Amino acid sequence: MTHEITVIPGDGIGQEVTPAAVEVLEALEIDFEFHEAEAGDHVAEETGEALPEETYDLAASTDATLFGAAGETAADVILPLREAVDSFVNVRPAKAYPGVDALRPETDLVFLRENTEGVYSGHEDRLSDDLSTLTRVVTTSASERLAEFACDFVEDGEYDGFHIAHKANVMRETDGRFRDAVLEVADDRGVQTEEVLMDAFATHVCLDPTQFDVVACPNLAGDVLSDLAAGLVGGLGMLPSANVGPDRGLFEPVHGSAPDIAGEGVANPAATIISAAMLLEYLGHDEEGQAVRDAVEGVLEDGPRTPDLGGDASTEDVTAAILERLN
Ligand code: NAI
Ligand code: MG
Repeated sequence: MTHEITVIPGDGIGQEVTPAAVEVLEALEIDFEFHEAEAGDHVAEETGEALPEETYDLAASTDATLFGAAGETAADVILPLREAVDSFVNVRPAKAYPGVDALRPETDLVFLRENTEGVYSGHEDRLSDDLSTLTRVVTTSASERLAEFACDFVEDGEYDGFHIAHKANVMRETDGRFRDAVLEVADDRGVQTEEVLMDAFATHVCLDPTQFDVVACPNLAGDVLSDLAAGLVGGLGMLPSANVGPDRGLFEPVHGSAPDIAGEGVANPAATIISAAMLLEYLGHDEEGQAVRDAVEGVLEDGPRTPDLGGDASTEDVTAAILERLN
């Protein structure tokens, strides 16, 4: 069986780290067909549109999409792309790797972020010169879908259970609905849960991240808290992510186009290559996914490093070292 993969390098270092991840995928004994597609600032400058229809259609029809980064047009690219793959959860692991200088080297947790609603539903209004409002949307169905995913994730990964981060003591209707729906699914499935207020979580995770393994969050909380965790594990060059839908997925590093280093050939490819490992696992290639992870971790521990990790190696040097460990 051939897996059809859309590849969208995008802008800036997206053009450098995405080919590195494709090289890693090509080195495996798996049949892929790659469809390269355009998106981002450079396309918007030419055509006025950051996400061409062909790119959207490819993402909406292929098995998976690997995306690098976009620049100023990021929101115009990523939000529709997440919708194209019908992604309801954003999986964001935050792990400190051996050999990487991290604020909290013991950090190893995964955020499961609701990816379709909350305050990011786009229902904002400017009602007068003085007043703007935002309608926060929470449905039982989306909360349950996230909870089912969290239960599967906990069972597959053999975790003890998961935390639910919320603020239902204040947002009783919306976060209350989210919490109740998640608790009910987890209870039916016999999966242990623990509640944590999202503001208190921010403190706890900084003081002792080992208290947490898997954390299910509403959309905004997941966005903010996972970026906070990025600060604990050695920076943005290290964080992968997966936008998972029922039939397809979108895999991307958390970082952006990094205009300050773009074109120099020194971007850290780790986040994108680990995102490719998540793509492999999504497609059922667990063994190959693990092999890629092991190769990346080995190189992070004692191989060449890009400048963000204190080394002077290029993206190509690091990618070559990862490929060598893979073979
Ligand atoms: P950024 O993630 O691009 O860069 C932040 C800092 O981290 C920079 O100093 C950069 O050099 C460094 N960095 C990031 N990834 C790195 C890597 N792989 N290797 C080495 N260093 C790395 O975020 P910033 O500067 O806030 O935004 C730059 C542009 O990216 C903006 O136009 C923004 O809109 C866009 N952006 C796009 C995202 C996406 O496409 N998913 C996400 C975040 C920002
Ligand atoms: Mg963010």
